[in-house]
Amino acid sequence: MFRSIILLIPIVTAAYDDPAQQLVAFKNSTQGPIGIMTTSNGAPVKYKYATGTLNSRLLFHEYFMDSLTHFSRERIPERVVHANGAGAFGFFEVTHDITHICKAKMFESVGKRTPIAIRFSSIFGDRGASDTLRDGRGFAVKFYTEEGNFDIVGLSAPAFVIKDPLFFTTFVRSIKRNPQTDLLDANLMWDFLTLRPESWNTFMRVFGDRGIPVYTNMPGFGIHTYQVVNDAGMSYFIRFHFVPDTEEKTLTSEQARGINSEDADYNKRRLFKAILNGDFPSWTFSIQILSVDDVKNADFDVFDVTKILPQDKYPLHPVGRMVLDRNPDNYFADIEQLAFNPANLVPGILGGLDKLFEARRLSYRDAHYYRLGANFNNIRVNCPFNTKPLTYNRDGHAPVKDNQKYLPNVYPNSFNGPAPVEPWRDFSEPELLHIIEADPNNLDQIKDYYQYTLTDGERKRLLENILSSLVSATQFLQDRAIALFNSIDPDLGYKVASGLALNTTMEMHYLGLK
Ligand SMILES: *[C@@H]1O[C@H](CO)[C@@H](O)[C@H](O)[C@H]1NC(C)=O
Ligand SMILES: *[C@@H]1O[C@H](CO)[C@@H](O)[C@H](O)[C@H]1NC(C)=O
Repeated sequence: MFRSIILLIPIVTAAYDDPAQQLVAFKNSTQGPIGIMTTSNGAPVKYKYATGTLNSRLLFHEYFMDSLTHFSRERIPERVVHANGAGAFGFFEVTHDITHICKAKMFESVGKRTPIAIRFSSIFGDRGASDTLRDGRGFAVKFYTEEGNFDIVGLSAPAFVIKDPLFFTTFVRSIKRNPQTDLLDANLMWDFLTLRPESWNTFMRVFGDRGIPVYTNMPGFGIHTYQVVNDAGMSYFIRFHFVPDTEEKTLTSEQARGINSEDADYNKRRLFKAILNGDFPSWTFSIQILSVDDVKNADFDVFDVTKILPQDKYPLHPVGRMVLDRNPDNYFADIEQLAFNPANLVPGILGGLDKLFEARRLSYRDAHYYRLGANFNNIRVNCPFNTKPLTYNRDGHAPVKDNQKYLPNVYPNSFNGPAPVEPWRDFSEPELLHIIEADPNNLDQIKDYYQYTLTDGERKRLLENILSSLVSATQFLQDRAIALFNSIDPDLGYKVASGLALNTTMEMHYLGLK
């Protein structure tokens, strides 16, 4: 007979400081099995070998059936980009008043805290790839605010590779696998890079020291110039920056090669461990602020996502801090299902004005529908738990939660179902400004960056990283690249050309973007 009363005792795992000890710590916090094992239907399982079914059918072995059939369904599509990631939870705390710029409730008073989730990710690597490959990185933050979730789906570089969203699939395919060989392909990548030089403002940073970041010490950028509005209805334009409170840390190609051969999960492990040890990573959440006049007077398109906004002109203003102090309880539930969307905006934050932002509003939603189903916002980590959603959406694949219970399911209705905010109650919210976007022209900023920002050591490593990738591209692509390097800096062009001719690079084979 089975025990009929199962005590549900919350298990608090004993403190531990090394992720490798997680199971031991769990064991230490318990005294024997924590309960009776059940099928997913909840029925107690009586132990029986599957081979010991001589006189009964395997089909009647409910544990066997439950286990094997669930197993073949336990994968969901991995993200096409940003598949490999690590994340954690914590809070955002306002340290500086910006209510004169933005009326969003999360900024309403100094000291106010909002729960957050952050996911760091590499861009081209598959889900199981090493997280210390040379690549751009995602730095996505979800703020669980009282006015719904606000997501900043940012990156580790201050600009994006393309301005026209039509080239998004082109860009992603070019850094991923060749259709026949299924190998990363230098020709694919350098063709894209040399056809779309606006990508160089980002790519030269990826080939430089920032290309292999350490997540706990990595800066993040919101990329788009967002329109925000204050209580009086005045618009401002801001870019978000996450500045690590500890010194920025990166790995050289050589260091990363050593790490990759020993631990493909260096960044994930390090983040988890830091939080276990109470060494909570934190960032200063800062913004660059532009008034309508600043936008009009700028000598370039401040909404161009392939450009950065120079900080000497538009300085950083600290707003708050973001602290990660809690690891996921379960990676799949908490991080693999964590779904960010630039369209998750709150009153006072109108979003980016550019076409890429518009495209991202579609593509993130679309990806979540595909990976997680129509009710992905009902998944615990995506729920706007600081507010109560009252929608007219119903049904669909699980999880539906309470499916809005007995509330009226049509709008409009005459039965007191949820009603929208009356326009007169929110008169201060303007429309998103319309902008006209021209073709990008981006070598100017990367020229400055190469010539005036980089140190000699950084230039040397950048050159090595470029050579070790470009050496695998075919001649005409090398020539096209050299011409572009020449226009960034003749010395750089010369060094790339002679480096390729002399084959002096340390690595003569193509290793991802290394
Ligand atoms: C588990 O308990 C043993 C015995 O008390 C102890 O030596 C060990 O450090 C503990 N390990 C963890 C990770 O809690
Ligand atoms: C550079 O090295 C590759 C591979 O070792 C070789 O095939 C190629 O001919 C070399 N090129 C030059 C210019 O020496």
